[in-house]
Amino acid sequence: MSKTPFYITTPIYYPSDKLHIGHTYCTVATDTMARYKRLRGYEVMFLTGTDEHGQKIEDKAREAGVEPQAFVDAIVEGPRGVKDLWKLMDISNDRFIRTTDDYHVRAIQRIFKAMYDKGDIYKGTYSGKYCKPCESFWTESQLKDGKCPDCGREVQDAQEEAYFFRLSKYAGPIQDLLENTDFLEPRSRVNEMVNNFIKPGLEDLCVSRTSFTWGVPVDFDPGHVVYVWVDALFNYMTALGFMNDRYDDYDKFWPCDVHFVGKEIVRFHSIIWPAFCMSLGLPLPKKVYGHGWLLLDGGKMSKSRGNVVDPYVLAELFGVDALRFFLLRTFPFGADGNFSNEALINTINVDLANDLGNLVSRTTAMAEKYFGGALPAQRQEEPLDTQLTAMVKALRERYEAQMERYQFQNALEEVFRVIQRANKYIDETAPWTLGKDVAANGPRLATVLYNLLEATRVCGILLTPFMPRSMEKLFDQIGAGPDLRTWDSAARWGALPAQAAVRKGEALFPRVDLDKALAQLEEIQAQSAPKAPGAPEIEPLATESVDFDTFCKSDFRAVKVKACEAVKKSDKLLRFTLDDGTGTDRQILSGIHKWYQPEALVGKTLVAIVNLPPRKMMGLESQGMLLSAVHTVDGEEVLNLIMVDDQIPAGAKLC
Ligand code: MSP
Repeated sequence: MSKTPFYITTPIYYPSDKLHIGHTYCTVATDTMARYKRLRGYEVMFLTGTDEHGQKIEDKAREAGVEPQAFVDAIVEGPRGVKDLWKLMDISNDRFIRTTDDYHVRAIQRIFKAMYDKGDIYKGTYSGKYCKPCESFWTESQLKDGKCPDCGREVQDAQEEAYFFRLSKYAGPIQDLLENTDFLEPRSRVNEMVNNFIKPGLEDLCVSRTSFTWGVPVDFDPGHVVYVWVDALFNYMTALGFMNDRYDDYDKFWPCDVHFVGKEIVRFHSIIWPAFCMSLGLPLPKKVYGHGWLLLDGGKMSKSRGNVVDPYVLAELFGVDALRFFLLRTFPFGADGNFSNEALINTINVDLANDLGNLVSRTTAMAEKYFGGALPAQRQEEPLDTQLTAMVKALRERYEAQMERYQFQNALEEVFRVIQRANKYIDETAPWTLGKDVAANGPRLATVLYNLLEATRVCGILLTPFMPRSMEKLFDQIGAGPDLRTWDSAARWGALPAQAAVRKGEALFPRVDLDKALAQLEEIQAQSAPKAPGAPEIEPLATESVDFDTFCKSDFRAVKVKACEAVKKSDKLLRFTLDDGTGTDRQILSGIHKWYQPEALVGKTLVAIVNLPPRKMMGLESQGMLLSAVHTVDGEEVLNLIMVDDQIPAGAKLC
């Protein structure tokens, strides 16, 4: 019999910075759900990936002085990058999509064209505010005090030719989808979407840009790149082979069973995404689940606030499974939660070291001590046992009800109620007292230990999606082979053979010394905190004077950069084509590639000294020199080209 498909996704991450614990949270939740569904026998497709286009990435790459592709490659594939992190966290994704993958790029071009051909994408004019120095378009609401939110300078009214998607056309069907189905959960997010976005009126969506180039080109209109959210949302389909022949699973897995997404991108997933699907006449995803944020000191984690928590540090210090468990045990999935190191350590100590760890170590130690690891077959049941056994027998169903609603925290609560009951059962039955006379109490002692082993086994199965590695160790210790780790066997009380071979192993979750661990974390954080840059060092002023007439011979002019490109076979030189006001282009070569990407300089107004004798460099003539300001920080030379007000015309003399 073929398995039922189940398709689940995480948002694809912006590789603009290294990922933090907030990103890890969503991926761990998705992984746990994928593992749970696999455990239940579904054929799971779990997709994650990276969303690599757009102005933000282009800007970051420029700041770093590298090409955008090299910039994202380093964060996605490089050491301690996105892929490494998912490997470390035991993320079991079946596929990883990068939106710069060729097959995806081509598919997006076809998709864009298909919506255009349908008449749902049309060409219009995007009106907004433009910041000239930043070359950025902003909407009125994005401005800060009426000025550019990036540089704080004045903005101008501006218009740009752009393509639009007829989102307004789908307002009615989307409202119906949100209000009358359980497409979007938790329900609280529905009101937010309807009241804040649909009722005030859905405007058509600008879906192309001409102000930057790092995106999927609109193939039928060069100069336009596809808006990054069109490119990003369709990843959920292209990764299955939609509009491309790299994969062939679209028919099997679409419509998606659930998209897990953070609350701030629910709007894109619950309004724009279904509208795109409707436009192409495609089935809608079955569900979008908007989870909450992990907050730090009550605020969002972000690199600019300097408060990101590094999952590598936590996983290395406390273990991958402990971290995975903590994230889903502590915070209700649909709501925000406050992250703290104390809460993490506390959860490890209370739930894992104390409750679960003690149950396993006490039970296996006693089975070894009293019976050499193999329980005798005779049993002696007592009424006291039924409370525990009844709870274990009902556990799978109760857990399933919570997992099916993505209530990870509640599902774990069900399991831990049984674990706590089992520990209480140890205290009530006092096996160490029975063990004083094993010959007389053998059948009763064996019954108690067997019940504990069965309780542990069933809990272990249900905890496997959360902590896959540790549960394997647990099964090895209680002698549960592969058949006794299955979903079916979690509902079969008594599946463990009467004479199971038990072997006490090392502690599954060692206790963490709170003070010591906090001090360690503080030290690591202090080491990795970005160091304040050293004071700029300035070259001593010249002591030799120059006579005024000689100085006046130097001809400084404002020049406009018409074109700029890297000189082939040189890693330093840029070749500038400049307007110096004479009507004839001036070529200047400058060794500043280390500090500037050529395309970022086009349009800028610079200062050149134009009456130096021409010089040849790499076979090209340089007719002058561009002026820069140079200083040193921490032994590194820092160079800034002198840029002057764009109002100054080309050729203006500087004196
Ligand atoms: N690239 C888009 C998603 C496109 S999906 C078609 C994006 N990327 S992101 O890297 O900025 O964020 C990815 C996910 O991480 C989002 O769902 C976001 O909510 C989640 N989180 C980022 N910080 C978070 C917390 N502090 N806590 C929980 N989730 C957080 O958005």
